[in-house]
Amino acid sequence: MLMAWSRRKSVDTITHHEAGRSLKRTLSWPHLMALGIGCIIGTGIYTLTGVGAGIAGPAVILSFAVAGLVCACAALLYAELATLMPAAGSAYTYTYAVIGEALAWIVGWSLILEYAVGCATVAVGWSGYLGGMLRASGIDLPIEIMAGPHMGGIVNLPAVCISLAITAMLVAGTRESATLNIALVLIKIVALSIFVIFAMPAFDATKLDPFMPFGFMANEMDGQTKGVMAAAAIVFFAYFGFDAVSTSAEEAKDPGRDLVIGIIGSLALCTVIYMLVAAVAVGAVPFTEFSASPEPLAFILRTLGFPYLGVAIGIAAIIALPSVILGLLYGQSRIFFVMARDGLLPHHLSVVHATRGTPVIVTVITGSAIAVVSGFFRLDEIAALANSGTLLAFIAVAACTMILRIRRPDLKRIYSTPLIWVVGPLTIAGCLFLFISLPLITMLRFVAWNGVGFAIYLAYGQFKSRLALAAK
Ligand code: ALA
Repeated sequence: MLMAWSRRKSVDTITHHEAGRSLKRTLSWPHLMALGIGCIIGTGIYTLTGVGAGIAGPAVILSFAVAGLVCACAALLYAELATLMPAAGSAYTYTYAVIGEALAWIVGWSLILEYAVGCATVAVGWSGYLGGMLRASGIDLPIEIMAGPHMGGIVNLPAVCISLAITAMLVAGTRESATLNIALVLIKIVALSIFVIFAMPAFDATKLDPFMPFGFMANEMDGQTKGVMAAAAIVFFAYFGFDAVSTSAEEAKDPGRDLVIGIIGSLALCTVIYMLVAAVAVGAVPFTEFSASPEPLAFILRTLGFPYLGVAIGIAAIIALPSVILGLLYGQSRIFFVMARDGLLPHHLSVVHATRGTPVIVTVITGSAIAVVSGFFRLDEIAALANSGTLLAFIAVAACTMILRIRRPDLKRIYSTPLIWVVGPLTIAGCLFLFISLPLITMLRFVAWNGVGFAIYLAYGQFKSRLALAAK
């Protein structure tokens, strides 16, 4: 059995697939960078900045720095593996080739948290801005259709609708959706720049005092996990998405150039923007005032006497946050697609539509599940769960990069992570530190999720995997 669990794909042939089951190479670096930024800037900065400030106080700036540092390290490792193995599937595929099937399955199963639950999180954040916009325009829709049961409603209908709409877009074809994504990315960046420019003059250093009211390490206070690290474990959500670029490696025209620019460029730009937005937010308005708002950036601008800009940033979020859902759902459908192609999920799911070149069946199934989660669950809880899955994937990527350096020094690396023996261990340590800073309930949910996942592997995947069938 242990033999079966450690079955590996070959690193050398990982980009060879049977006819009809390969994705088209249609994307170049501007598409990939836009896909990266499209995934990165979203509910994390637009909404979780408030949640994070409530957990860490003004020191949420530090939380963004810690989470950003861990992601920067992970991004360097992703770039090496993505260029070495330009095949769809991201951390799942790398783990399959480097460590073995059983662990790859667990990573793939955890990536569902990152991408699918992450999608649902962004849909809920989007719905928060939509609700605020509607209220500002005098339209008060009943709470029953505007929020899940935890907020006194029945279903978060806007979140459900946006999830389904994006699913339809992706089914229509990768290329069109990715091009539209570029326009949406520009809107998001302009809106955040306007926020910084107009809120900056209100910056007052006395608002940063006390800087760390809840301490540095995650600790339980009033039934909530607080502290700089606890906030870092939540705002970490704001950064991920750059790895979605690596999931499209198989569709990149020139993986060596396009992927590196796509992954590292998009993360670097977003880090700068986040540090500015967080610092300006906590310096302009006391964090206690905006931390509970479902649309904190719009709230801050309104509080500072710019009601029209509050509306503008709301509109920008409403128009542009769907690009995050688009990118994450794209990543998720590709991961499912590869897992099905590998036989770990039912094989017919991996059929690519003859003319559109997209995996229609998995996209529709995933999109529907996301719609359900976004309709009924709480924003901060699903964000934390998405983060737990992402952290595992990052740890796997770091481990795979280092193992491969030792096992296959001969491989021609288009891109090599600098200081691998510093960056690799730092990524693993950072991810573990963030993981243990998550609320206890999130860790338990993560373990339960993977327990169910592993049971599925034991019952199905280990017998049906293509490698298992080939070995018979
Ligand atoms: N980083 C993405 C966001 O903040 C997932 O929405």
